[in-house]
Amino acid sequence: MPFLAFLATRADESVQTSVEELDDAELPDGDVLVDVEWSAVNYKDAMVTTPGNRVARRSPLVPGVDLAGRVLESTDPTIPTGTNVLVHGYDLGVAQHGGFAARARVPASWVVPLPDGLTTRRAAAIGTAGFTAVLSLDKLQQAGLRPGVGPVLVTGASGGVGSMAVAALAGQGYEVVASTGKQAEHGYLRELGASEVVGRDGVADAGRVLASERWAGAVDCVGGETLSAVLRALRYGGAVAASGLTAGSSLETTVYPFIVRGVSLLGVDSVQTPIEERRRIWATIEEVLPGPTVDSMVAKEVALGELRGVLDDVLAAKVRGRVLVRPATS
Ligand SMILES: NC(=O)c1ccc[n+]([C@@H]2O[C@H](COP(=O)([O-])OP(=O)(O)OC[C@H]3O[C@@H](n4cnc5c(N)ncnc54)[C@H](OP(=O)(O)O)[C@@H]3O)[C@@H](O)[C@H]2O)c1
Repeated sequence: MPFLAFLATRADESVQTSVEELDDAELPDGDVLVDVEWSAVNYKDAMVTTPGNRVARRSPLVPGVDLAGRVLESTDPTIPTGTNVLVHGYDLGVAQHGGFAARARVPASWVVPLPDGLTTRRAAAIGTAGFTAVLSLDKLQQAGLRPGVGPVLVTGASGGVGSMAVAALAGQGYEVVASTGKQAEHGYLRELGASEVVGRDGVADAGRVLASERWAGAVDCVGGETLSAVLRALRYGGAVAASGLTAGSSLETTVYPFIVRGVSLLGVDSVQTPIEERRRIWATIEEVLPGPTVDSMVAKEVALGELRGVLDDVLAAKVRGRVLVRPATS
């Protein structure tokens, strides 16, 4: 059966993108065939379109690390035909065709059946970004963070993970300070629950190895010098949950935040989260990220033919919140 797909194909010095027709036979082997109703754009999807990237592990590739839709065929009795499902992470959209196509075939062990009441649109809107934000919050709470202990910083706050983290933390009663490079999004971040919004340079004051103690905790999806600054400005015993690298993948720090203030650097990975843990988190995710809040983070819906422009905007940090993809439309 033919269907539409957005393809990223490595050329000599570039990555070409196109919208083409694929057939079910071109999909990988798997237990579950999904009619993809919604996908969403994540930073990783933009990375696979950059020349020389090491994220894409096949070419041509259908990107899209998130997908949500209805099961069309299944060989696994626990995920019958007609079930509404979500798939994200693992090899999806990097080593195997992902969500930027109207159909996908995946192993049953990657599939999250949606809880009653969670629509495929909303599940895609939450997607990897919301899941990563909730994992970050979970890690911080395991490290002892509780509402009332002090301000919690969110960096890259206007992006997908950042927006979700602001909303999730504020909803749980934390005092949230959002850091963003976008002056125009201060109002949006306050609407999501931030009590204060600072610029990207508002993370730490000057201080070579240690800065003033400001943050009881932090969600950082930016990395690089930003993460280094967060570490310098964590309060005694504070922790940062680190998930991203939009400002760079290298981290320069000293041991002083760790040995003088006892701070913790907590790694967050959404890609290989075991499926049982993944299904457990998705079963109650709307308690932390309520539907109307999620809906308010959707900046726009796009067709496959509009994706290249959106992915370029993501790399230029011009996107706010979540962009949804309608994979059945060109
Ligand atoms: N570990 C995991 O499992 C996991 C899961 C999801 C995402 N991630 C990673 O997390 C990061 C964010 O992903 P996303 O999907 O939320 O991306 P996104 O929606 O594109 O948001 C990224 C945000 O980072 C900030 N930013 C961009 N370039 C920057 C720069 N040069 N310096 C400082 N800040 C910059 C911007 O926020 P402001 O304009 O508001 O400052 C931007 O909105 C990415 O690196 C992604 O690969 C990791």
